[in-house]
Amino acid sequence: MESNAFVKELETFKAERLIPIVGAGRTSIADGAGGDPQVLLEIALANEISVSELAALWIPTTAEVDVKLAFARQAGDEAGHFQLVADRLTALGVDVAAFAVPPENPLFRYLKSLTSTVERIAAGLVTLESIAYGVNENFMALCESRGDTETVRIYREYIQPDERAHQELGQRLLAKYATTPELQAIARATVVKVLEIAEAGRAQAATRLGTACFPGC
Ligand SMILES: [Fe+2]
Ligand SMILES: [Fe+2]
Repeated sequence: MESNAFVKELETFKAERLIPIVGAGRTSIADGAGGDPQVLLEIALANEISVSELAALWIPTTAEVDVKLAFARQAGDEAGHFQLVADRLTALGVDVAAFAVPPENPLFRYLKSLTSTVERIAAGLVTLESIAYGVNENFMALCESRGDTETVRIYREYIQPDERAHQELGQRLLAKYATTPELQAIARATVVKVLEIAEAGRAQAATRLGTACFPGC
């Protein structure tokens, strides 16, 4: 398939698979299952630093310069998101210095195992970022309902535009590099795998937190 058409088809496919993940968060909001605001922002911290580290890990081992630069940009942007959320927690009276990065979860273990450029674009930029965008929209709705307009503003003005840009950058790079049926099959399988692991991980976290509405990266 022509690669632009492939990316378009992959987006439709991915959007369908995202419905249960994003829908779970909406159900939690509708059910009034809120979760502790501080704990939810600390989950954002953990996700932002994990994605920053992942993208940084891929910079030196990705040969294609435009993809290398995309990961470098992502690593820097996610570090910026960490700082924004950390500053917000500080303003809420939380001692961020006490924050410890949680142990690696199955999703990041899988992501770090990916070695090819097409897999990394499909997983890290195209899929992870679209999950983040969707679940962050829910998280913003939750914050809005609680009157936390400052957190909503930070997500709306800074974090979400970046997450969208990362995702769009991934789509352009995938159209450039997933040019054969074999590479397109690999990209699609990677998207499926990331969504599967993310859905299972988020469901597990939801049980622990008492809500499926918590932020991504
Ligand atoms: Fe991102
Ligand atoms: Fe982020």
